Amino acid sequence: MLKDFVYYNPTKIYFGKDSMDNLEIELKNYGKKVLFVYGGGSIKRSGLYNKVIQSLKNTNKTIYELSDVLPNPTYEKMMEGANIVKKEKIDLILAVGGGSVIDCAKGIAAAAKAKNPWRSFWIKNKPTPKKLCPIGSILTMTGTGSEMNGGSVITNTDVNLKKGRVFDANNYPKFSILNPELTYTVPEYQMLSGIFDIFSHLMEQYFSGTDDNVSDYLLEGLMKVLINNTPICINEPTNYEARSNIMWASTMALNTITGLSKDQDWEVHSIEHQISALTNCAHGMGLASISVNYYKHIYKYGLQKFVRFAKNVFNINQENISNEQYALLGIEALDKFIKENKMYYTLQQLGCTQEMLPIIAKTCDKDSSGYKQLTTKEILKILEESY
Ligand code: NZQ
Ligand code: ZN
Repeated sequence: MLKDFVYYNPTKIYFGKDSMDNLEIELKNYGKKVLFVYGGGSIKRSGLYNKVIQSLKNTNKTIYELSDVLPNPTYEKMMEGANIVKKEKIDLILAVGGGSVIDCAKGIAAAAKAKNPWRSFWIKNKPTPKKLCPIGSILTMTGTGSEMNGGSVITNTDVNLKKGRVFDANNYPKFSILNPELTYTVPEYQMLSGIFDIFSHLMEQYFSGTDDNVSDYLLEGLMKVLINNTPICINEPTNYEARSNIMWASTMALNTITGLSKDQDWEVHSIEHQISALTNCAHGMGLASISVNYYKHIYKYGLQKFVRFAKNVFNINQENISNEQYALLGIEALDKFIKENKMYYTLQQLGCTQEMLPIIAKTCDKDSSGYKQLTTKEILKILEESY
């Protein structure tokens, strides 16, 4: 049964080949001082950096830059940006990049208004002040959904913790520009990491609850988009149809609409965040390394949904088999999808050492809204199986 909900998402999306034409129109809505936030250099190599600078100049902006926001963005880098926002009284943060850059921008906006941002927002989950520096984004890779949500995942290297904060709508990007062509230059490994991240977002929302819920039908459809488009995306990196399908599926998978009114799990993400906190691995690859083993541990507690997954997502159609066999066939199909699409790496290949496994198991959040709340010991077993 649908639980009561309020839905509000303030991000304006410009999608498509010509979506960059809207940048200057949007820039005119904000004051003079812009903090241009970006990553380690891909936008300079692709020429996007020059285009953005030109648009900022055309709209008479004073430009401040924060570069080198790297994957798994650090608290330290975020605070560098927050200090610029405070000192210079910035009017708009323009984030150009993937989830790391956009997550960092949200952290910057919130941190500019707090005395102890880590404690207030990532540990205590305190609400932010209503008026934050607005953010606009230009997305250059797909995966996180950060372009249309409040998520901000930050790594605090002082305490070896990577934590996600979901900010309120007042800290969502005000606008996001999504041009699938900008993803043509994303390296294959990174593209695949992003695609599995999307798949995982869908599964985290799907594998919870027992009710008949609109959300589950939407999630199944989006998983099929990924199954059908991933091979095309990789074999033909400039196939616009496949890239645009993946890009919009990615946004839809975590703009909160698909999870409305339903229980959600997120334990795979909680474990992975501690894997990447210690190894700095690509987020999606960390998720792919543990997902199959995780689902093998919990499927018995949500058997009917795992049967439905096998039937509706992977189109498995078998007679005279038990529900348990059905569920396992679905998990096997997921395993095949991961391996056939070159998304499978062991934890060791991702940079984990055996000594890290108990630390990850101990420090990751233990979520209680999935089919089974795992203990530290159970999580350690999953990590050992994935090592
Ligand atoms: O830094 P540059 O040089 O730009 O290179 C980046 C980076 O090395 C490169 N890249 C991006 N666009 C490119 C490109 N290279 C060539 N051409 C392009 N067009 O890709 C690399 C990875 O970028 P990153 O932003 O780190 O990837 P992603 O979008 O996967 O973001 C991952 C971060 O988001 C967090 C993850 O934990 C991780 O820290 N998440 C955020 C979420 C949210 N906001 O809701 C939810 C997710 O579950 C996730 O936890
Ligand atoms: Zn994710």
